Amino acid sequence: MAHKITLIPGDGIGPEVTGAVVRILAAAGVKIDWETVNAGAQAYEKYGEYIPKELVHSIERTGVGLKGPVTTPIGGGFPSINVALRKKFDLYANFRPVRSLPSLPTRYPSVDLAIVRENTEGEYSGIEHEVVPGVVEALKIITEKASTRIARFAFEFARREKRKKVHAIHKANIMKMSDGLFLRCCRDVAKDYPEITYGEHIIDNTCMQLVMNPYQYDVLVMENLYGDIVSDLCAAFVGGLGLVPGANIGHGCAIFEAVHGSAPDIAGKDLANPTAVLQSAVLMLRHLNETAAADRIHAALEKTYKEKKHVTRDVGGTAGTSEFTDALIANMEAVAAASGR
Ligand code: NAI
Repeated sequence: MAHKITLIPGDGIGPEVTGAVVRILAAAGVKIDWETVNAGAQAYEKYGEYIPKELVHSIERTGVGLKGPVTTPIGGGFPSINVALRKKFDLYANFRPVRSLPSLPTRYPSVDLAIVRENTEGEYSGIEHEVVPGVVEALKIITEKASTRIARFAFEFARREKRKKVHAIHKANIMKMSDGLFLRCCRDVAKDYPEITYGEHIIDNTCMQLVMNPYQYDVLVMENLYGDIVSDLCAAFVGGLGLVPGANIGHGCAIFEAVHGSAPDIAGKDLANPTAVLQSAVLMLRHLNETAAADRIHAALEKTYKEKKHVTRDVGGTAGTSEFTDALIANMEAVAAASGR
């Protein structure tokens, strides 16, 4: 039976990188009925809504989405589609594994970190107002419920994957009540996982520690804004934003998307690296129990990077999006032939 999956192509480089991934999943033999509905400015032109009802109904039906990046206007305009979708479907956990790929020259050759970011509140609650002219107030919302469930998600992941350490990242020395509540929830949850070492680091120190020695960390759990920033920082360890995948997970619904944005500087030029969305799709396949296809794609991805011949410019190559995609599909066939499938 084919999987029904909602495809949100996004804008900027979104259609190029999601298009490449759709081709790769088809070549891997995964049967998917894509329901394609866009969000953002392009959706507004077609449906008169930034998040059209068609998209909401599709995600309600399929429970799984693959999403390209959507441009968010800065300092005005419509609110972030990403934040709105995460809230609408209560996709409370943003999971961002950061793993080195072979043969990519990076400062640290074998990074394997997992960032677990609270996805529904914090500074991203979007509650801002002008108190008096020249004074704006923004509310940072931290709740016991959201902090406890994100800590539980991080520890459950650590237990399932036999990871050794979970660090809660915070600024409770300054935000004593809000970050203090987050920390208390993490400490309480940690008690149920005695086999996992629990640590706490302040966010600014964490950034320095990560750059000095990322190997000291394993799983990091943090609030929304900190997670957004730290995951871009960590992307640099493994070759940049073109590589790092993400998953937004809720109860009965999950949307998979890269960490990167719509990259308007390279959009429409066949320059974008589709690896980040592809690795997000691999997470999606594992979520759908399509383990063999996920392994096949991952093996072809590693082979393509080891060969170095057809990688994109952001990681030091010369290939465009389509050349990289063709090479990966050819490598998938080579991997399948070598394993006798
Ligand atoms: P960005 O991630 O789009 O780009 C930052 C830099 O990384 C640029 O130099 C870009 O060319 C490069 N880059 C990103 N992805 C790449 C890829 N796949 N291959 C090669 N190079 C890549 O971040 P920026 O410029 O801050 O944001 C642009 C827009 O994207 C904004 O409107 C922002 O709000 C939106 N955005 C959307 C996200 C989403 O939909 N999930 C996430 C982050 C940003």
